[in-house]
Amino acid sequence: MTTDTRTPSDDRSRVIVFDTTMRDGEQSPGASMSLDEKLELAKILEDMRVDVIEAGFPIASNGDFESVRRISEIVTESTICGLARAGQADIERCAEAIRPARRGRIHTFISTSPVHMKWKLQMEPDTVLEMVTKSVAHARNLCGDVEWSAEDATRTERDFLRRCVEAAIRAGATTINIPDTVGYTYPSEYEAVFRDLIENVPGADNVIFSTHCHNDLGLAVANSLAGVQGGARQVEVAVNGMGERAGNAALEEVVMALKVRGDRLLFDTGVQTQHITRASRYVSAITGFPVQYNKAIVGKNAFAHESGIHQDGMLKNAETYEIMRPEDVGQGGTNLVMGKHSGRHAFREKLKGLGYELGQNALNEAFQRFKDLADKKKDVYDDDIVALVDDALASG
Ligand code: KIV
Ligand code: ZN
Repeated sequence: MTTDTRTPSDDRSRVIVFDTTMRDGEQSPGASMSLDEKLELAKILEDMRVDVIEAGFPIASNGDFESVRRISEIVTESTICGLARAGQADIERCAEAIRPARRGRIHTFISTSPVHMKWKLQMEPDTVLEMVTKSVAHARNLCGDVEWSAEDATRTERDFLRRCVEAAIRAGATTINIPDTVGYTYPSEYEAVFRDLIENVPGADNVIFSTHCHNDLGLAVANSLAGVQGGARQVEVAVNGMGERAGNAALEEVVMALKVRGDRLLFDTGVQTQHITRASRYVSAITGFPVQYNKAIVGKNAFAHESGIHQDGMLKNAETYEIMRPEDVGQGGTNLVMGKHSGRHAFREKLKGLGYELGQNALNEAFQRFKDLADKKKDVYDDDIVALVDDALASG
C-alpha cells in the first residue's frame, strides 16, 4: 500500500492572471489614466507578480500606443500585451508598441455572435472565419505569443465557436479567450463551454484557454471560477473590478477565491497577494472611482467587526469570523469597530490598548457612557473613548 503524502497545494494547477485594468478597466466611462499613472500601476502589478498586463489598445490613440510602449520598456517580470482588432493596421501598431517588451503578446479579437456579426461587423460568418485565420496568422508572424478572443463568445452559436477556435489554433494562437462580453452567461453554462471546446476542438490541448467575464449580472467572479473548473488556465481580471459598464471580474476576488478555497478548487496563482490593497487604493485614487465599504477583500469594512458577538469571537480566535488574514491582502489588520453593537469584552480590550486598566465599577460606568454615546454618534473614535473614560474616572 502506498501512502499519499501530497497536500492539496502540491496538486494545485497554476492559473495565469491577466490584468486588464489599463485596457478594459480604462474603458469604464470617466476612468482614464495618465501615462505616469499607468507606469506606476504597471510597476505595482509587476510587484504583485501578475503574469500578463494588458497595457492598452495601441491603435486607439497615440497616448495608448505610448503607454503600451513605455510599459514594455520598464516591466521585465510580466508579459506585456496590447489589444488589436482583426485588421492588419491594428495588429502592426500593436506589434510595434510591444516590441521593447522582454515578453510581449498580441491580443487580437473579432466578434463571433450572430447579433454582433449582423449588426456591428455586417459580415457573413464565413468572412469572419477567414478573418480569424488571417489576423492570427499575421499576428503570429510578428510575435510568438498570440491571444485570440471570440468577442461575445457566450452568445455565439456553439458549432461556429468551435470552428473559429479551431481556425485560430491552426493559425498559431497560443491562448484562446472566451469572453462573456455582455455578462450574460451563467456559471454552469460557462464551465460547459470550456469543457466542450477543450474536448472537441482539434489542437485544444496545445493552447491555454482563458476566461474574460463582465459583471452585468454580478456573476463575473463566479463565472471566472466556473471557467477555471471547466479547464481554463488563464483569468482576465481588473483591479477593483474596473471595466466596461458593470466592470470585469475583480482581480482581488478571483485571486483570493482561488487561494482561500484552494482545498476545493485545487488551483492557485502566482500573485503576491499582500500587494492587493495597495493596487486597489492606487487604482481608486487615480481613477476617482471609490471602493465601496463592503467590497470583498479590499473594502474598508472587509475585515471590520462591530457586533459584540462577533468581536467576542474574534478576540478568542480570529478564525471565528475571518476566512483569510487581512495581512495576506495588505490590509493593516482586523478592525474591531467600537459602535452601539459592541460588547463589554471588546470595550475592555480597546481600553487596554489605550492604556487603561479599570476596576469593575469604573469599567461598568465607562461602558454605560460609551453605549449612550454610541446610540447618538455613528462613529465612536478613540478620542471619544478616552474623553468618556477620563470623565467617568473623574466623576467616580
Ligand atoms: O469583453 C470583451 O469581449 C473584450 C474583448 C476585446 C476581449 O474586452
Ligand atoms: Zn471585456
